[in-house]
Amino acid sequence: MAKAKNIYFCQECGHESSKWLGQCPGCKQWNTFVEEVVEHKKSTVSQKLISAAKPVPLDEIVMKQEDRFSSGFPELDHVLGGGIVPGSLVLVGGDPGIGKSTLLLQVCQNLGAQQVRVLYISGEESLQQIKLRAQRIGSFSGSLTLFCETNLELIDEVIRREKPQVVIIDSIQTMYSESIASSPGSVSQVREATSAFMQLAKGNGITIFLVGHVTKEGVVAGPRVLEHMVDTVLYFEGDRHATYRILRGVKNRFGSTNEIGVFQMQEQGLVEVENPSEYMLSGKPEGASGSVVACLMEGTRPMLLEVQALVCRSSFGIPRRTAAGTDTNRVNLLMAVLEKRFNMRLGECDAYVNIAGGMKMNEPALDLSIVLAIISSYKDCCIDEKTICFGEVGLSGEVRAVSMAAQRIQEAHRMGFTTCILPKVSIDTIKKPEGMTLIGVKNVQEAVRRIL
Ligand code: TYD
Ligand code: MG
Repeated sequence: MAKAKNIYFCQECGHESSKWLGQCPGCKQWNTFVEEVVEHKKSTVSQKLISAAKPVPLDEIVMKQEDRFSSGFPELDHVLGGGIVPGSLVLVGGDPGIGKSTLLLQVCQNLGAQQVRVLYISGEESLQQIKLRAQRIGSFSGSLTLFCETNLELIDEVIRREKPQVVIIDSIQTMYSESIASSPGSVSQVREATSAFMQLAKGNGITIFLVGHVTKEGVVAGPRVLEHMVDTVLYFEGDRHATYRILRGVKNRFGSTNEIGVFQMQEQGLVEVENPSEYMLSGKPEGASGSVVACLMEGTRPMLLEVQALVCRSSFGIPRRTAAGTDTNRVNLLMAVLEKRFNMRLGECDAYVNIAGGMKMNEPALDLSIVLAIISSYKDCCIDEKTICFGEVGLSGEVRAVSMAAQRIQEAHRMGFTTCILPKVSIDTIKKPEGMTLIGVKNVQEAVRRIL
């Protein structure tokens, strides 16, 4: 028998050390070293197995149709890549109070209507509290069962005995295993619980939804650990003061990522928003300077948004710049471009940029809208209401191509916009929709000349 060796591994970057270290020399993270026992065993693979192991040519692999089932929310199905996959482990992360429990309880309601056996395990709320929420949401069928427990060994037993098709764990941070000394919510407990649920999901073909709270830094507690282990990671986000919520796919082993679903929190729970562009543009002021409509992509879905800017004379020595919903540094950079290339004296002005509706967007295609909104506010002249624009702005004021121009124009056309300002290079690749004027521009000067 070979001698076992204790090695310490950094959980962030995998750096290896023979003794424990507080800070990883590789990635400079603190407190990431975990001890692992490495044992070099002699191979016990039999001669028969060795001769049977053989790689398979790609075109000889027979595809099995996955029998996905619907969650009852087309928006959620879209984010999951076309429905719930049996035996998958899905993590739903989000700030406390954003509506994770509500969303999953509504999924239970929808699944119950399809006679799917669902077990909802709550470690945070009592049965009465869940019942109270359920009463707000509406009527439930009999196939939903509830269980309030945090002990992992007990939960494991109950799931194996009851054999539900879908299990909801609310939340993973409250689960604890007796075999681990640390407190619930610590990295090792969360990891232990997740791996136990993964074995349950894969071994029994049960779909398990894990609710995970997000820490102040915006990561699910037990950074990285959870995301690597689960099949799908969804984040539920939104402004707590606004009613809309966005469900964003961050990782998906069964479909594409970066897809979003839009919901609205109402009195009777969450309702899907079928036309997000219309929703985001509602309340747009008419004939106001500093307001431009942009078209951005969220995964494969185009979305129209209003970009607002307010530029006014600064009464202090150092001008103030703020950006809500987009990157402040990007706004500063674009203002520097305007200052240098267009001789606009923005150094004496305060500037506030806002994405109306509380959305957060960092796509480069937003640049042209930000620039035009700033110029519109600075010159105090308004941009035609039926105009949208998109394009990346470079450091010399040139307008550069962005991806998926055709989809963006299609969406603008659908929403009744008649003019579109876009990068000149993109214009040749697109079929013009009827009744739409496309204006291809090479640089910001040209865009300003054409619309202001
Ligand atoms: P909840 O699902 O408890 O959040 P999480 O599980 O992510 O912590 O949602 C709580 C918020 O949603 C709470 O502020 C109340 C609100 N809400 C509604 O507005 N309408 C409803 O029908 C429900 C059930 C909740
Ligand atoms: Mg909750």
